[in-house]
Amino acid sequence: MSVPDVATAYQLQETPDGVRGVMTTLAVAAIGEGDLLVRVTHSCVNYKDGLAATGAAPIARRLPLIGGIDAAGVVVEAAGEHQVGDHVVVTGFDMSEKHDGGYAEYVRVPASWAVPVPEPLSLWDAMVLGTAGVTAALGIHQLERNGLRPGQGPVAVTGASGGVGSVAVAMLAGRGYEVTAFTGKADEHEALRRLGATTVEGRPDTEKVRTLDSEMWAASMDSVGGQTLAWLASTTKRGGGIASYGNAGGVKVATTVMPFILRGVNLFGINSGWFPDEVRRELWHRMATDLRIDTAAIGHTREFAALPQVCREIVTGSVAGRTVIRIADPD
Ligand SMILES: NC(=O)c1ccc[n+]([C@@H]2O[C@H](COP(=O)([O-])OP(=O)(O)OC[C@H]3O[C@@H](n4cnc5c(N)ncnc54)[C@H](OP(=O)(O)O)[C@@H]3O)[C@@H](O)[C@H]2O)c1
Repeated sequence: MSVPDVATAYQLQETPDGVRGVMTTLAVAAIGEGDLLVRVTHSCVNYKDGLAATGAAPIARRLPLIGGIDAAGVVVEAAGEHQVGDHVVVTGFDMSEKHDGGYAEYVRVPASWAVPVPEPLSLWDAMVLGTAGVTAALGIHQLERNGLRPGQGPVAVTGASGGVGSVAVAMLAGRGYEVTAFTGKADEHEALRRLGATTVEGRPDTEKVRTLDSEMWAASMDSVGGQTLAWLASTTKRGGGIASYGNAGGVKVATTVMPFILRGVNLFGINSGWFPDEVRRELWHRMATDLRIDTAAIGHTREFAALPQVCREIVTGSVAGRTVIRIADPD
């Protein structure tokens, strides 16, 4: 398939209302930098994508810039280990911050950023997972390196109906963990049980967080941050870990050193954008094997034209599960 001169893209631009995502047409030759050219078939919408496209937070460090922190597609100009026709996935790095991202019919990136989509995952599966999958898998990976094993007690997941949260619930349940899912959405309790949560509860009351509270969680995975993270620190069991990757509920955490020095609670910061290449490959391998989830239970598809709407919805916290954006067919 020959590469056209122009492509449709959702570009972050400075507008009279501030930074906004705008559907536009760009020369393919002007998209991205790097030696690998990928025809994008699918992308997805993460919280950060919503923040970038609505101007709710200054994500792009240069403008104009194509949005989208994730992309999956077919190689059209070979580079590195990737051959023409290979299915690849790119998540994180500087996409949508300093480098053109996945919201375009083509993306050009350094070959080292791309990972072959492992069998039996499809390009659609890869975008149900996307940065959310990498983040959840990295969180579980770090907690297991800290000694977490099934049978040690419940693992708490906050923001459970969201992208990372729902993937984390499904991955943990699939690995045999007992999962307590916290959600602010009463109508998502049943769906979270179907994903494998043993218990589903409303968001924890974080008005008055005690220094040390009853020990409840063998480990915790946190999308919310703020006082929810402080509460997790006070309720995680002796020696347990907390994977902290989100700030959907705030950035300010008022806690003390007590959970860390008296109970040996471990706080693991998770950054899905930058971490060693070999770990990235291992995580994709795990997502195709022992951390494999039923992507159809979490993912739903929207067309490229609906992207601006989905970006607005995700910043209000009203999107459940993972939204894949269909940009083109793989063949
Ligand atoms: N560190 C990393 O590498 C990394 C990677 C990906 C995402 N993240 C961060 O992780 C978080 C989740 O990302 P996502 O893509 O899963 O977003 P998402 O789909 O919007 O999910 C966030 C969830 O958090 C809960 N929530 C939203 N606002 C809240 C509030 N004010 N107080 C308490 N809970 C609230 C909601 O779940 P319920 O209604 O179920 O409670 C919401 O669905 C975000 O902060 C994102 O920036 C970080």
